[in-house]
Amino acid sequence: MDERVVSAESTETEEITEQQLRPALLKEYIGQDEVKDNLSIFMKAAKLRQEALDHVLLYGPPGLGKTTLAAIIAQEMGGQIKTTAGPAIERAGDLAAILTSLEPGDVLFIDEIHRLNRVIEEILYPAMEDFCIDIVIGKGPTARSVRLDLPPFTLVGATTKAGMISAPLRDRFGVLSRLDYYKPDDLAKIIHRSAQVFDVELTKDAEVEIARRSRGTPRIANRLLKRVRDFAQVDGHDSISLDLAKHALERLQVDPLGLDHIDEKLIKGIIHRFNGGPVGIETIAASIGEESDTIEEVYEPYLLQIGFIQRTPRGRVATQSSYTHFGLEYRKDG
Ligand code: ADE
Repeated sequence: MDERVVSAESTETEEITEQQLRPALLKEYIGQDEVKDNLSIFMKAAKLRQEALDHVLLYGPPGLGKTTLAAIIAQEMGGQIKTTAGPAIERAGDLAAILTSLEPGDVLFIDEIHRLNRVIEEILYPAMEDFCIDIVIGKGPTARSVRLDLPPFTLVGATTKAGMISAPLRDRFGVLSRLDYYKPDDLAKIIHRSAQVFDVELTKDAEVEIARRSRGTPRIANRLLKRVRDFAQVDGHDSISLDLAKHALERLQVDPLGLDHIDEKLIKGIIHRFNGGPVGIETIAASIGEESDTIEEVYEPYLLQIGFIQRTPRGRVATQSSYTHFGLEYRKDG
């Protein structure tokens, strides 16, 4: 046996996980004020009536805190959270096993809920509406259906693609909340909070600089903070100044708007290979060697938000702002 083999557990002891960065209560959750204010009312009302919170659908771009909110809902309602994902539930039995393990007031969190298959969705309908499921026991002519009661629970579904959820499933959620990109001020507060968890010191302007380059996304803000901390630590700095943050972010190839080399490849691809567009998403994806789903779900939403690309019926178009940002001459003559 090789003595150098170490278990996964022992390599993880010092690591601060994403879990530890997550706020546990709604009052610690920064930003998304409208979503938070509404959820707070609905949770209070459900608690007053001693009921489970109505089912909640959270949608919006990745990395904005949907999983965090689901965990907060469970915590605030005094239940446990059971987490799964749409593609992980393949058979009726998988879902039945999860549903029958729930206790009253628990949260069942289904990430990527738009990827549930139809058979599973149909089992979910009575579970959501009447807290029961019908399961088939046996096969062939002796098969019979048995109804099982479930405890009152809250389904929290999350998706980056709200448009891909079937109407019958969407209609069974009592609360639909859209998460939006965070304002730089809120991201700076999140970075400040995370820095305390990491026990690193940052000047205010360094926090603002990292916030500005985080594409409105806490997950990216926390990742950049970790990497900037690495540069500071290796260079022997106790505190992260604006200059140090800028230097590290340049080394990470994150530009002043937070765009990375894939954003650049995408935009320059549209400009140079397709004369600025319009061009279809599949065509761009193939030409730059990226998955079209990744472009659509991860890269494109932010570029649309900052007005660097537009979606038209004939495909994506690079706007004048893109040309300007990359120092290219804008000549659009149709
Ligand atoms: N960490 C990640 N997202 C957060 C948020 N919205 N508030 C506080 N900390 C966070």
